[in-house]
Amino acid sequence: MLIFALPVLLAAVLGATPSGAELYAQKCASCHGAQQWGSPDGPSLRRVGLADVDFYLSTGRMPAAVPWIEVEHRDERAGQQLPLAQIRALEAYLAPVVAGGPALPQVVAGRNADRGRELYAVNCQQCHGVGGTGGSIGRADWAPALHAATIEEVADAVRAGPGEMPRFGEQQFSQSELDDLAGYVLLMQSGQPGSGIPSSSTGPVPEGALGYLAIVVLIAFVFGFWRRESGGRSG
Ligand code: HEC
Ligand code: HEC
Repeated sequence: MLIFALPVLLAAVLGATPSGAELYAQKCASCHGAQQWGSPDGPSLRRVGLADVDFYLSTGRMPAAVPWIEVEHRDERAGQQLPLAQIRALEAYLAPVVAGGPALPQVVAGRNADRGRELYAVNCQQCHGVGGTGGSIGRADWAPALHAATIEEVADAVRAGPGEMPRFGEQQFSQSELDDLAGYVLLMQSGQPGSGIPSSSTGPVPEGALGYLAIVVLIAFVFGFWRRESGGRSG
C-alpha cells in the first residue's frame, strides 16, 4: 500500500519540478547522450563525480547553450543557471552514473585563517592571484576571479578540478584543510584576508606593481633632478 502511495506523495511534495530524468532528457541529453556516454557535442559524464556535476551546474557553466562553448565569464553566464531544485533533481538522477569520480564535498568555513592563507598561497595563488582576483594562465587560458564563488563551489572546484585547474583529492587536502582553505577564500571575498598576505607570488599582480614602482621611481628621479636644477638657479 505504502509502496504505491509513495510516488504520489513524492510528486506532490516536489510540486512543479520535473524529474531528474525529464530534465536530463530536455537539457543535457542532446550533447551528453541519452546514456551519458557523450556525443560529438559534449563529453561523457560517466564517472566524472558529483562534485564535478555540482560545480558545472551551480556555477551556471552548464547547461551549455552552444556545443563546446563553455561560457566562462560569470556575468555572461547569469540567466543560464538552473533553479536549485532542478540542480538537485539532476544530481539525484545522475548520481549512479557519475559515481567513481570525486564525491560531493562537505564543507564548513574553517577558522584557522593562517593555515587557509598558507594553503591558498601554495596551491591556488599562482593561478587565481593574490586576493583571488584571477589572472591569465598561459597563452589562451585564464583563471577566474574567486569573488563570486560560494563556499560549496570552492569545495567542488578543489575536489573536481575543472578545466585547466588541477584536482586536489583527500591526499592533498584533508577535510579540515579544505575547510580552512574555503574559509580563507570567503575572507578574501569580504576583503579581510588577515594580516600578511605573502608577497612572493609570481602572479600578474606583483608584476604589474613592479611596473608601477618603476614609473614612480622614474618620476621621483626626474622631479628631484628638476628641483635641484631650479633650486640651484633661484638660490
Ligand atoms: C550544447 C551542448 C551541451 C549541453 C546542452 C550540456 N552540456 Fe555539459 N558539456 C558540454 C561540453 C562541450 C562540455 C565540455 C566543456 C569544457 O570542457 O569546457 C561539457 C561539460 C560538462 C561537464 C564536465 C564534464 C567533465 O568532463 O568534467 C558536466 C558535469 C556537464 N557538462 C553536465 C551537464 C549537464 C548536467 C547538462 C544538462 C543540465 C549539460 N551538461 C548540458 C556540452 C553541453
Ligand atoms: C593551474 C591553475 C589553477 C590552480 C592552481 C587553481 N585553479 Fe581554480 N581555476 C582555474 C581555472 C582555469 C578555472 C576555470 C575552470 C573552467 O571554467 O573550466 C578555475 C576555477 C575555479 C573556481 C570557480 C570560480 C567561479 O566563480 O566560477 C574556484 C572556486 C577555484 N578555481 C578555486 C581554486 C582554489 C581554492 C585553488 C587552490 C586549491 C585553485 N582554484 C587552484 C585554475 C586554477
